[in-house]
Amino acid sequence: MNVEKITVPGLTGRKANGGVVEDKIVMVTAYDATFAALADEAGVDVVLVGDSMGMVVQGVPNTLPVTLDEAVYHTRLASRGATRALLVGDLPFGSYQVSAPQAIESSVRLVKEGGAAAVKLEGGVTMADTIEAITRVDIPVMAHIGLTPQSVHRMGGHRVQGRHSGSQAGGRDRLLADAKAVEAAGAFSVVLEGMPRELAAEITAGISIPTIGIGAGPECDGQVLVLHDVLGLTPNLYKFAKAYADLRSEVIGALQAYATDVRTSAFPDDAHSFH
Ligand code: KIV
Repeated sequence: MNVEKITVPGLTGRKANGGVVEDKIVMVTAYDATFAALADEAGVDVVLVGDSMGMVVQGVPNTLPVTLDEAVYHTRLASRGATRALLVGDLPFGSYQVSAPQAIESSVRLVKEGGAAAVKLEGGVTMADTIEAITRVDIPVMAHIGLTPQSVHRMGGHRVQGRHSGSQAGGRDRLLADAKAVEAAGAFSVVLEGMPRELAAEITAGISIPTIGIGAGPECDGQVLVLHDVLGLTPNLYKFAKAYADLRSEVIGALQAYATDVRTSAFPDDAHSFH
Protein backbone atom coordinates (compact mmCIF):
# COMPACT_ATOMS: atom_id res chain seq x y z
CA MET A 1 0.00 0.00 0.00
CA ASN A 2 1.17 3.52 -0.83
CA VAL A 3 1.83 5.28 2.50
CA GLU A 4 2.82 8.64 1.01
CA LYS A 5 0.52 11.54 1.88
CA ILE A 6 -1.95 12.17 -0.93
CA THR A 7 -1.78 15.73 -2.23
CA VAL A 8 -3.63 17.78 -4.83
CA PRO A 9 -0.59 17.92 -7.18
CA GLY A 10 -0.12 14.19 -6.66
CA LEU A 11 -3.69 13.52 -7.80
CA THR A 12 -3.63 15.86 -10.79
CA GLY A 13 -0.24 14.42 -11.71
CA ARG A 14 -1.88 11.05 -12.25
CA LYS A 15 -3.54 12.49 -15.35
CA ALA A 16 -0.47 14.32 -16.60
CA ASN A 17 0.84 11.31 -18.48
CA GLY A 18 -0.95 11.64 -21.82
CA GLY A 19 -4.27 12.10 -20.08
CA VAL A 20 -4.56 8.46 -19.04
CA VAL A 21 -4.95 7.68 -15.34
CA GLU A 22 -3.53 4.24 -14.71
CA ASP A 23 -3.62 4.58 -10.92
CA LYS A 24 -7.35 5.23 -10.53
CA ILE A 25 -8.44 7.60 -7.78
CA VAL A 26 -10.39 5.99 -4.94
CA MET A 27 -12.64 8.32 -2.96
CA VAL A 28 -15.16 7.55 -0.23
CA THR A 29 -17.17 9.68 2.15
CA ALA A 30 -16.59 9.70 5.91
CA TYR A 31 -18.03 11.95 8.57
CA ASP A 32 -16.07 11.16 11.73
CA ALA A 33 -12.62 10.23 12.98
CA THR A 34 -13.25 6.48 13.35
CA PHE A 35 -14.35 5.87 9.77
CA ALA A 36 -11.93 8.38 8.26
CA ALA A 37 -9.11 6.47 9.99
CA LEU A 38 -10.45 3.17 8.63
CA ALA A 39 -10.61 4.62 5.10
CA ASP A 40 -7.07 5.88 5.55
CA GLU A 41 -5.88 2.47 6.73
CA ALA A 42 -7.60 0.84 3.74
CA GLY A 43 -5.52 3.00 1.41
CA VAL A 44 -8.33 5.18 0.08
CA ASP A 45 -6.92 8.25 -1.72
CA VAL A 46 -9.55 10.87 -0.93
CA VAL A 47 -11.92 11.17 2.03
CA LEU A 48 -14.86 13.41 1.24
CA VAL A 49 -16.86 14.82 4.13
CA GLY A 50 -19.89 15.01 1.89
CA ASP A 51 -23.14 16.81 2.48
CA SER A 52 -24.61 13.33 2.04
CA MET A 53 -24.24 13.48 5.83
CA GLY A 54 -27.74 14.96 5.65
CA MET A 55 -29.17 11.61 4.57
CA VAL A 56 -26.86 9.07 6.19
CA VAL A 57 -26.00 10.82 9.47
CA GLN A 58 -28.80 13.29 10.09
CA GLY A 59 -31.71 11.27 8.63
CA VAL A 60 -33.13 14.03 6.42
CA PRO A 61 -34.43 13.28 2.89
CA ASN A 62 -31.89 15.37 0.95
CA THR A 63 -28.70 17.40 1.36
CA LEU A 64 -30.33 20.83 1.49
CA PRO A 65 -30.70 21.26 5.28
CA VAL A 66 -26.98 20.64 6.02
CA THR A 67 -25.40 23.80 7.44
CA LEU A 68 -21.86 25.14 7.12
CA ASP A 69 -21.37 24.78 10.88
CA GLU A 70 -22.29 21.09 10.62
CA ALA A 71 -19.99 20.59 7.63
CA VAL A 72 -17.11 22.27 9.47
CA TYR A 73 -17.74 20.15 12.58
CA HIS A 74 -17.79 16.83 10.70
CA THR A 75 -14.79 17.81 8.58
CA ARG A 76 -12.86 18.52 11.79
CA LEU A 77 -13.82 15.09 13.17
CA ALA A 78 -12.74 13.34 9.95
CA SER A 79 -9.47 15.30 9.84
CA ARG A 80 -8.39 13.55 13.03
CA GLY A 81 -8.68 10.19 11.27
CA ALA A 82 -7.59 10.91 7.70
CA THR A 83 -3.89 11.54 8.05
CA ARG A 84 -2.72 10.10 4.72
CA ALA A 85 -5.74 10.55 2.45
CA LEU A 86 -6.59 13.93 0.96
CA LEU A 87 -9.42 15.43 3.01
CA VAL A 88 -12.06 17.28 1.00
CA GLY A 89 -14.78 19.32 2.73
CA ASP A 90 -18.12 19.71 0.95
CA LEU A 91 -19.61 23.20 0.77
CA PRO A 92 -23.29 22.83 1.78
CA PHE A 93 -26.21 24.41 -0.03
CA GLY A 94 -26.38 28.14 0.65
CA SER A 95 -22.77 28.46 1.81
CA TYR A 96 -21.30 29.48 -1.57
CA GLN A 97 -24.05 30.43 -4.04
CA VAL A 98 -24.66 33.97 -2.70
CA SER A 99 -21.37 35.54 -3.79
CA ALA A 100 -17.70 34.81 -4.39
CA PRO A 101 -16.69 36.43 -1.06
CA GLN A 102 -19.22 34.20 0.74
CA ALA A 103 -17.77 31.14 -1.04
CA ILE A 104 -14.23 32.13 -0.03
CA GLU A 105 -15.27 32.68 3.60
CA SER A 106 -17.02 29.30 3.74
CA SER A 107 -14.05 27.55 2.12
CA VAL A 108 -11.64 29.19 4.55
CA ARG A 109 -13.72 27.82 7.43
CA LEU A 110 -13.57 24.27 6.03
CA VAL A 111 -9.78 24.56 5.73
CA LYS A 112 -9.00 26.54 8.88
CA GLU A 113 -11.49 25.06 11.35
CA GLY A 114 -12.19 21.75 9.60
CA GLY A 115 -8.68 20.82 8.48
CA ALA A 116 -9.71 20.19 4.85
CA ALA A 117 -7.05 20.34 2.15
CA ALA A 118 -9.62 21.16 -0.53
CA VAL A 119 -13.31 21.96 -0.90
CA LYS A 120 -16.02 20.63 -3.21
CA LEU A 121 -18.92 22.53 -4.68
CA GLU A 122 -21.73 21.72 -7.09
CA GLY A 123 -22.22 23.44 -10.43
CA GLY A 124 -20.50 24.02 -13.75
CA VAL A 125 -20.77 27.05 -16.01
CA THR A 126 -22.65 29.09 -13.40
CA MET A 127 -20.06 28.34 -10.70
CA ALA A 128 -16.95 29.06 -12.81
CA ASP A 129 -16.38 32.54 -11.33
CA THR A 130 -16.81 31.16 -7.83
CA ILE A 131 -14.31 28.35 -8.46
CA GLU A 132 -11.87 30.90 -9.82
CA ALA A 133 -12.29 33.10 -6.75
CA ILE A 134 -11.70 30.25 -4.29
CA THR A 135 -8.66 28.93 -6.16
CA ARG A 136 -7.27 32.49 -6.28
CA VAL A 137 -6.80 32.29 -2.48
CA ASP A 138 -5.03 28.94 -2.94
CA ILE A 139 -7.81 26.67 -1.79
CA PRO A 140 -8.07 23.77 -4.25
CA VAL A 141 -11.57 23.14 -5.57
CA MET A 142 -13.15 19.86 -6.62
CA ALA A 143 -16.14 20.56 -8.87
CA HIS A 144 -19.27 18.41 -9.10
CA ILE A 145 -21.51 18.28 -12.19
CA GLY A 146 -24.30 16.12 -13.58
CA LEU A 147 -26.75 14.92 -10.96
CA THR A 148 -26.03 17.60 -8.39
CA PRO A 149 -28.08 16.70 -5.30
CA GLN A 150 -28.37 20.34 -4.18
CA SER A 151 -30.40 20.92 -7.38
CA VAL A 152 -32.96 18.30 -6.33
CA HIS A 153 -35.92 20.67 -6.78
CA ARG A 154 -34.87 21.83 -10.25
CA MET A 155 -34.31 18.21 -11.34
CA GLY A 156 -37.60 17.06 -9.80
CA GLY A 157 -35.78 14.39 -7.77
CA HIS A 158 -32.40 12.67 -7.88
CA ARG A 159 -32.48 11.98 -11.63
CA VAL A 160 -29.83 10.92 -14.13
CA GLN A 161 -28.73 13.97 -16.16
CA GLY A 162 -27.38 14.33 -19.70
CA ARG A 163 -29.62 11.75 -21.33
CA HIS A 164 -30.99 14.34 -23.74
CA SER A 165 -29.21 16.82 -25.97
CA GLY A 166 -29.55 20.50 -25.22
CA SER A 167 -27.78 23.32 -23.49
CA GLN A 168 -30.35 23.81 -20.75
CA ALA A 169 -29.32 22.72 -17.23
CA GLY A 170 -29.02 18.93 -17.24
CA GLY A 171 -28.79 18.69 -21.04
CA ARG A 172 -25.96 16.75 -22.67
CA ASP A 173 -24.32 19.76 -24.33
CA ARG A 174 -24.57 21.74 -21.12
CA LEU A 175 -22.76 19.02 -19.18
CA LEU A 176 -19.92 19.05 -21.73
CA ALA A 177 -19.76 22.84 -21.31
CA ASP A 178 -19.91 22.50 -17.50
CA ALA A 179 -16.87 20.19 -17.54
CA LYS A 180 -14.88 22.58 -19.74
CA ALA A 181 -15.92 25.55 -17.59
CA VAL A 182 -14.79 24.05 -14.28
CA GLU A 183 -11.51 22.93 -15.84
CA ALA A 184 -10.88 26.45 -17.20
CA ALA A 185 -11.83 27.98 -13.84
CA GLY A 186 -9.05 26.05 -12.12
CA ALA A 187 -10.82 23.10 -10.44
CA PHE A 188 -8.28 20.35 -9.77
CA SER A 189 -10.79 17.55 -10.34
CA VAL A 190 -14.47 17.08 -11.02
CA VAL A 191 -17.07 14.65 -9.72
CA LEU A 192 -19.33 13.33 -12.49
CA GLU A 193 -22.54 12.10 -10.91
CA GLY A 194 -25.54 10.33 -12.41
CA MET A 195 -24.97 10.50 -16.16
CA PRO A 196 -24.68 8.02 -19.06
CA ARG A 197 -21.28 6.32 -19.06
CA GLU A 198 -20.74 7.34 -22.71
CA LEU A 199 -21.05 11.01 -21.77
CA ALA A 200 -18.77 10.59 -18.73
CA ALA A 201 -16.21 8.86 -20.98
CA GLU A 202 -16.36 11.75 -23.45
CA ILE A 203 -15.91 14.31 -20.68
CA THR A 204 -13.05 12.30 -19.15
CA ALA A 205 -11.23 12.14 -22.49
CA GLY A 206 -11.88 15.82 -23.20
CA ILE A 207 -10.50 17.51 -20.08
CA SER A 208 -7.08 17.53 -18.44
CA ILE A 209 -8.24 17.26 -14.81
CA PRO A 210 -9.21 13.91 -13.23
CA THR A 211 -12.87 12.94 -13.25
CA ILE A 212 -14.28 11.03 -10.30
CA GLY A 213 -17.46 9.15 -11.10
CA ILE A 214 -20.50 8.11 -9.13
CA GLY A 215 -23.16 6.56 -11.29
CA ALA A 216 -21.13 7.63 -14.32
CA GLY A 217 -19.57 4.38 -15.49
CA PRO A 218 -16.09 2.86 -15.42
CA GLU A 219 -14.26 5.20 -17.81
CA CYS A 220 -13.85 7.96 -15.20
CA ASP A 221 -10.40 8.56 -13.72
CA GLY A 222 -11.63 7.54 -10.28
CA GLN A 223 -14.73 6.55 -8.36
CA VAL A 224 -16.52 7.77 -5.26
CA LEU A 225 -19.18 6.07 -3.16
CA VAL A 226 -20.98 6.97 0.03
CA LEU A 227 -19.44 5.07 2.95
CA HIS A 228 -22.75 3.69 4.23
CA ASP A 229 -23.47 2.21 0.77
CA VAL A 230 -20.02 0.56 0.51
CA LEU A 231 -20.43 -0.99 3.95
CA GLY A 232 -23.95 -2.26 3.33
CA LEU A 233 -25.57 -0.02 5.96
CA THR A 234 -28.07 1.51 3.53
CA PRO A 235 -31.34 -0.45 3.27
CA ASN A 236 -32.16 0.37 -0.38
CA LEU A 237 -29.19 0.99 -2.66
CA TYR A 238 -29.39 3.05 -5.82
CA LYS A 239 -28.56 1.10 -9.03
CA PHE A 240 -25.09 2.66 -9.28
CA ALA A 241 -23.98 1.85 -5.73
CA LYS A 242 -22.41 -1.40 -4.55
CA ALA A 243 -22.20 -2.84 -1.06
CA TYR A 244 -18.91 -4.59 -0.28
CA ALA A 245 -20.08 -5.85 3.12
CA ASP A 246 -23.37 -6.47 4.90
CA LEU A 247 -22.76 -4.46 8.04
CA ARG A 248 -26.46 -3.76 8.45
CA SER A 249 -27.08 -7.45 9.23
CA GLU A 250 -23.88 -7.63 11.30
CA VAL A 251 -24.84 -4.61 13.40
CA ILE A 252 -28.43 -5.75 13.95
CA GLY A 253 -27.19 -9.27 14.79
CA ALA A 254 -24.63 -7.96 17.30
CA LEU A 255 -27.17 -5.69 19.00
CA GLN A 256 -29.75 -8.50 19.16
CA ALA A 257 -27.15 -10.81 20.75
CA TYR A 258 -26.25 -8.10 23.28
CA ALA A 259 -29.94 -7.52 24.11
CA THR A 260 -30.51 -11.26 24.62
CA ASP A 261 -27.47 -11.50 26.92
CA VAL A 262 -28.67 -8.56 29.02
CA ARG A 263 -32.21 -9.89 29.24
CA THR A 264 -31.02 -13.38 30.28
CA SER A 265 -28.33 -12.00 32.64
CA ALA A 266 -25.62 -13.71 30.56
CA PHE A 267 -23.85 -10.35 30.34
CA PRO A 268 -21.97 -9.18 32.23
CA ASP A 269 -20.46 -12.43 33.47
CA ASP A 270 -17.62 -12.72 35.97
CA ALA A 271 -14.99 -12.17 33.24
CA HIS A 272 -16.45 -8.72 32.60
CA SER A 273 -16.81 -7.78 36.28
CA PHE A 274 -14.43 -6.23 38.84
CA HIS A 275 -13.46 -7.68 42.24
O1 KIV B 1 -22.06 14.51 -0.54
C1 KIV B 1 -21.54 13.53 -1.09
O2 KIV B 1 -21.34 12.48 -0.50
C2 KIV B 1 -21.15 13.67 -2.48
C3 KIV B 1 -20.60 12.48 -3.19
C4 KIV B 1 -21.60 11.44 -3.37
C5 KIV B 1 -19.91 12.85 -4.45
O3 KIV B 1 -21.27 14.73 -3.03
